[in-house]
Amino acid sequence: MGAGKSTVGARVAELTARPFVDLDRLIERRHGPIGELFERGEPEFRRIEEGILAEALAGPDAVIALGGGAVLSPLNRERLRSRALTVFLDVDVETAWKRVCGSDRPLARREEDFRALYATRQEVYAEAADAVAADADGVLRAGLAVELGGRVVPTGPVEVVGDERVLELHAQPVPGSVHRLPAGETAKTLAVVERLWSELRLGRDGTIVAFGGGSTTDVAGFVAATYLRGLPWIAVPTTLTGQVDAAIGGKTGINTTDGKNFAGAFHFPERVVIDPELLATLPESERRAGMAEVVKTGLLAGRPLWELDEEAMIRACAAYKSGVVLSDPYETEGRRAWLNLGHTFAHALEAGSDYRVSHGEAVALGLLAALRLSGQPTDVVEEVLRPEPVEAELDTAWAALKRDKKGEGVFILLEAPGKPVVTTVADADARTALAALVR
Ligand SMILES: NC(=O)c1ccc[n+]([C@@H]2O[C@H](COP(=O)([O-])OP(=O)(O)OC[C@H]3O[C@@H](n4cnc5c(N)ncnc54)[C@H](O)[C@@H]3O)[C@@H](O)[C@H]2O)c1
Ligand SMILES: [Zn+2]
Repeated sequence: MGAGKSTVGARVAELTARPFVDLDRLIERRHGPIGELFERGEPEFRRIEEGILAEALAGPDAVIALGGGAVLSPLNRERLRSRALTVFLDVDVETAWKRVCGSDRPLARREEDFRALYATRQEVYAEAADAVAADADGVLRAGLAVELGGRVVPTGPVEVVGDERVLELHAQPVPGSVHRLPAGETAKTLAVVERLWSELRLGRDGTIVAFGGGSTTDVAGFVAATYLRGLPWIAVPTTLTGQVDAAIGGKTGINTTDGKNFAGAFHFPERVVIDPELLATLPESERRAGMAEVVKTGLLAGRPLWELDEEAMIRACAAYKSGVVLSDPYETEGRRAWLNLGHTFAHALEAGSDYRVSHGEAVALGLLAALRLSGQPTDVVEEVLRPEPVEAELDTAWAALKRDKKGEGVFILLEAPGKPVVTTVADADARTALAALVR
């Protein structure tokens, strides 16, 4: 009671594009005011609550705000365990009491009683929940098992697949045999995948831990998707790009002679364990590349996330990406494509420069182009990322852009910050926008 379940639930539902079910409101619509139901006795109320929760759980994937006492019922707990991810929205007793005092809630009439109830329920909540969160962002991260400051505590055999540079700089996240990958993008090859397939000694009870940036999580995740037809894996991202973007969302893959990320699989990590302290050793150029994705995320979310301190920024970006992925896990609804804001131009510049232009630089320029085509101010990108036109072969870049869009002219633009749209752009306008990015 007073934890903010209805407010947070509605927000999470909106961000994940799922229906929102407020259990108490639903009970009231069907059976009248909860105060009156309680007067007929709590057991009667709990029975009604059990029925309505069972109904909600049988429906489409939704965000459900439970009543404060719903998890007291063993039957409800059982049903939640088999069908739902249950998040304990943790709030201190003062805040909760401030929110509910003076309301007509039957169990919130006297402060002493409320405090006593709060104390006795903490344990039940902790036990019934799969995760704990303080706000909507926390619930979104819990939805994709993204944890900040968590520890990797393996329950069975593990093997670590790590970027060699990162393994040199940091202690490996768990004991177990280690497979060293060449640093960065050079690891995303079929040869590396084959080597890992033959080196791994894990059985079906094993878990792969990926320790490195987006390149490592991409290739290790792909190996996890394919080795023994799929093993669970845990991502421990060590770059800013990895912590705000690449390690989250289950896209794994490698590059082939035909192009970047040409072979891959959706294979969601069991957990994503983020430790911002790992970023202390990150070279400045890699940090800047990560900031391009942060600015992208902030523009999509409509929040100036780039202004936050590093840890808050990572938390918020990871939450936003989790929400979008939960709303469209396999990129079939168009929503997940939002995450490509600026990326059509970025990929074109990368190809047009024979990959001499880095992804981060290219994304910064791509965001500039997307904002210009959207008729939106570009000052944030200019101030935070300071992109400069790059040397690239315009015709090659244009051909790559056309290929990227499969000739359909579809782009992600912004109606306003926080309002991405999937729309078409006339060739002439797209080409002018691209040309402005090239020196
Ligand atoms: N799967 C996805 O959803 C997704 C999303 C975005 C990007 N990606 C992929 O991620 C890749 C880029 O990943 P990235 O930008 O995270 O970099 P990266 O993994 O390529 O690493 C970049 C460099 O940073 C070094 N490094 C990593 N962590 C370090 C640390 N803590 N200290 C010092 N050096 C460190 C690496 O050794 C490497 O030299 C691309 O291949 C891209 O396609 C995937
Ligand atoms: Zn990117």
